[in-house]
Amino acid sequence: MHDNHALIVVRGLSKRVRGPEGEIRILDRIDLQVFPGESVAIVGASGSGKTTLLGLLAGLDRPSEGEIILAGRRLAELDEEALAALRLAQIGFVFQSFHLLPHLTVEENIALPLELRGERDPERVRAALASVGLEERRRHLPRTLSGGEQQRAAIARAFVTLPRLLFADEPTGNLDRKTGRRVGELLFRLNRERGATLLLVTHDRELASRCDRVLALSEGRLHSEAPA
Ligand SMILES: Nc1ncnc2c1ncn2[C@@H]1O[C@H](COP(=O)(O)OP(=O)(O)O)[C@@H](O)[C@H]1O
Ligand SMILES: [Mg+2]
Repeated sequence: MHDNHALIVVRGLSKRVRGPEGEIRILDRIDLQVFPGESVAIVGASGSGKTTLLGLLAGLDRPSEGEIILAGRRLAELDEEALAALRLAQIGFVFQSFHLLPHLTVEENIALPLELRGERDPERVRAALASVGLEERRRHLPRTLSGGEQQRAAIARAFVTLPRLLFADEPTGNLDRKTGRRVGELLFRLNRERGATLLLVTHDRELASRCDRVLALSEGRLHSEAPA
């Protein structure tokens, strides 16, 4: 496959930061291509740079070296405003700690990305609520929901704009095993049925093994793991 078919192209990506004892190399010359519809897991110990990598791919942070092309756009050429627009158009995010807005209901949280785009689409919000099984909870505030329900709401919010890319950073990290498995199911269903390209950062080997590919991050380098 060629670069121009890839949704994400990363070449020679490095990230260094200044620490108290000099420079720390978090990511070291990483190359990566992610193709439309794929599910890719990135595994690695805590502190190995997984969140840093996702942040760079989403244009939330700038690399020290290397280039990132996302949906055909070279991130280095975009200013903050253009990056924000690209994120809103292309990427849905799911985080370990849900990041729902506490004073908004489940329904309002899910509608938020549409509102940021100046769209109002109650039908789509309803469909998103239904797809994660939260219709009954739509008027609830996040804190009155269980962790699994909050994460399902966060997934609905990530997906309501039908982004091509779904970035999930330890999405099951705060959930018990059974609930984590349900949340995983939901992410894979969005990947399979809606063709969303899934980039999943996780400690959870079981979840990772269900992806098309597993990549391991260690000492700043990204290695492909042989399929199980
Ligand atoms: N802006 C920063 N300044 C200094 N150190 C950082 C910065 N961002 C991340 N780090 C360090 O880089 C390493 C990788 O962090 P992170 O990407 O959060 O890892 P992971 O998500 O795999 O746990 C950690 O040691 C973290 O402390
Ligand atoms: Mg992290």
